[in-house]
Parts: sequence; structure tokens; C-alpha cells
Amino acid sequence: METVISRATPETVKKLGEMLDMVFRPKQRPGEGMPREFPHLFSEQNARNLYYIADGQQPVSMVGVLVQEVLFQGISMPVASIGSVGTLPAYEGKRLASRILDRVVADLTDQEIPLMLVSGDRGLYRRAHCMPVGQMFEVEVTADLAQRVRARLPVKSTVQVREIPAAQRGVSARRLLPIYHLEPYRYRRTEQEMAVLLNALWFARLDYDQRLFEVTDSGRPVSYMVGYARRSASETVEVMEYAGSRTAYLHTLTDILQAFSASAIRFHVHIRDMEMLYLLKEWGLSPRAAALQGTVRALHVPALLQALQPVIREQSGVEATVMEQSGAWNISLGTNRRVCASQEDVVAWLFNHDEGCLGIPFVHTDDMNYI
Ligand SMILES: CC(C)(COP(=O)(O)OP(=O)(O)OC[C@H]1O[C@@H](n2cnc3c(N)ncnc32)[C@H](O)[C@@H]1OP(=O)(O)O)[C@@H](O)C(=O)NCCC(=O)NCCS
Repeated sequence: METVISRATPETVKKLGEMLDMVFRPKQRPGEGMPREFPHLFSEQNARNLYYIADGQQPVSMVGVLVQEVLFQGISMPVASIGSVGTLPAYEGKRLASRILDRVVADLTDQEIPLMLVSGDRGLYRRAHCMPVGQMFEVEVTADLAQRVRARLPVKSTVQVREIPAAQRGVSARRLLPIYHLEPYRYRRTEQEMAVLLNALWFARLDYDQRLFEVTDSGRPVSYMVGYARRSASETVEVMEYAGSRTAYLHTLTDILQAFSASAIRFHVHIRDMEMLYLLKEWGLSPRAAALQGTVRALHVPALLQALQPVIREQSGVEATVMEQSGAWNISLGTNRRVCASQEDVVAWLFNHDEGCLGIPFVHTDDMNYI
């Protein structure tokens, strides 16, 4: 079999979605799973970013790419998200996925995309120089605790929580987007993109119960959350995304738990979310530290440092300069010199919180923009 790597066209996107469902969603009719869960990835506009190898006319292995923009620490930066990586069982172990990923990395580096975010952590990605970085907090609140502390939150009687029914999710994008836009660590999203994400089939995925809740104060939206429970473990609600007033969000946990008939709710807290961390401390909760979801890879190192320059300058008082020399990056920060021997060293130095690292707080990579 010839291993030509192709990029999809609007006409071939459908075929790729069907192939991927055979890998990831074998219980569903091919084409009705992943492409509808990730409509932002499998759109006709994004066709060229779906890379694949075919055996004759049949795609047998693919890697999905979605170039998005992240905002954090007052800067914005393009990133390439990688997901929907799959090979049909009969073709596994032939290095097809590895070859496609190598090509993806080469193309994205040529385009000077600074960073790649990968929704996985396995040999395939580690061999391609991806690694887990950064930190977030995870917290689990039991229904008992949510009920006990609710009374202590300064929330007015004008505050209400309501579940947004499926038919209204798309149109609610206009109301909810301004709340998301206020988040300091996030993806860039237009109203149309937000509507696509809120209408994604992820909300109706087999074996999952996923819902959208809005919190209003005198009718004005102040917060929202997207949560889901696996039908096999329905006692715990996982929060995929929340935005807006932390007080209002915490106040409504009890209503959300009741709506799901669940006994605990789990969510992530950004390490710089002082308001949430302060409130949780008041509740006597200490969040658990975890690495950010998935792995990341530095693609174009000079472009990465260029994008981060304002943050580095604010943090260190000087700008970073970088010189590539025989596969290593010599980075200078004023009189400090650092040699990063690999892409892994670069992202660890930038985003990890260990001694000697810059610890630049990054965005969470598991909200609705996840692919
Ligand atoms: C994961 C998956 C995409 C790999 O596809 P593939 O075409 O078989 O990939 P490759 O042949 O390039 O690599 C497969 C395995 O061969 C071995 N391998 C390949 N190249 C190797 C190398 N240079 N050195 C050592 N081992 C190697 C590894 O065991 C590798 O698996 P790993 O990722 O666990 O390390 C495929 O198995 C799949 O679709 N799985 C189900 C869906 C899934 O889990 N997708 C990934 C989501 S994160």
C-alpha cells in the first residue's frame, strides 16, 4: 500500500468522519458520532487541516488539526490543536499515524505556528516531542457541602439558575458569549463559533448526559456552565466549561446537582483564578493540583518566544533572545543564558512551575474548544 499523505477537501470530509467513527464510536452509525461532536474540526472550511492516508479510496488513518487562537496574560497566540487521531484496526502498528503526525508538525512549523496542543499523552505523541506542561487545580464538591455553604454566599434573591433546553442552545450563544469573553484565559470565539460549540453533538453523545445552565441576576446573565455525567457513573457531574461570576456559579451547584440527581460535582480551577480559590478556601476546600489536559509541543520556537515576549518582559524585566544551534535553542534573558536541548525543554521552561522555570500560566485545554 502506498502511504501518500493527503489533505481532505470539502468533498472528502464526510468519508473521514465515517472512518473515524469506526475507530472511536463503533456503536454509532458511521458519520453520526465524532463529526457531529466536533463540528468545528470536521467543517468544510477546515477540510484542508484533516490529514489522512488512504488504501485505494478508503481513508484508513487520520490526524485532525484545528488552528485556534488562545488569549492569556494579556496576549493572544495562534495554536494548532490536534485531535481525532485514529487508524482503522486492520492498519494499526504500521506507523501510519506517526507519519501523518510528522507531516502535520512539518507543515505547521513552516506556517510558523508557535505551539501545538494535543488531546492525548501516549508514545505516538511523546515520540513527536509533545509533553504535559503547566498546572491547574481540580476540585470535587459533594452535594452535602454545596448545600451547607450555599447559605453563606452573598447571593441575592434575584439570582436564578435555569437549564437551557436543546432547541435554545444555539441562540443562547449571543447572551453567553460576552461572559466567556471576560475570562482572562480562553480561546478566541465568535458568536457563530460559540453557537456551533453549543450545538455540538457532544451534548447528545451516546452514554453521556450533557447540559447547559445559565445563571441570571434580574434576568441578566452573570454565569453559565456546561456539565455532563457518564451514564455509567452518573453520581458525579463533570464540568466542561464555566464562565462569569464565581459566586453565582458556586451558589448554583446545588441546583445543578439536583438537575442531574448526582451527589458530587467536579471542576477545574485556573491557577490564577484568585476569586474562585478564595471562595473555595472559605468552603474549607483545598483543590488538587494536576497537569493541564493532554500534551503540548513547541513548533516554531522563535515565533513562540516572539508571541510570549510581552509576558516574559513583564515577568523578567528583559526580552528573551533565541538562537538555534545544531538542534538546540540558546535562550538569553539579559545576562542569564539557558540552553534548551529539545522542544520539551522549551515548553517545560516556559510553562512549568518548577524552580528555574518561567511558569507562564496557560489556558485550560479541556473546555468546549477541545478537539
Ligand atoms: C493510537 C493510534 C491512532 C495509532 O495509530 P497507528 O497508525 O497504529 O500508529 P503507529 O503505527 O504510528 O504507532 C502505533 C504503535 O506502534 C509502536 N511504534 C510506532 N512507531 C514506533 C517507534 N518509532 N518506536 C517505538 N514504537 C513505535 C508504538 O507502540 C505505537 O503506539 P503508542 O502510541 O502507544 O506508542 C491507533 O492505535 C488508534 O486509532 N487507536 C484508537 C484511537 C485512539 O486511541 N486514538 C488516539 C487518541 S489520543
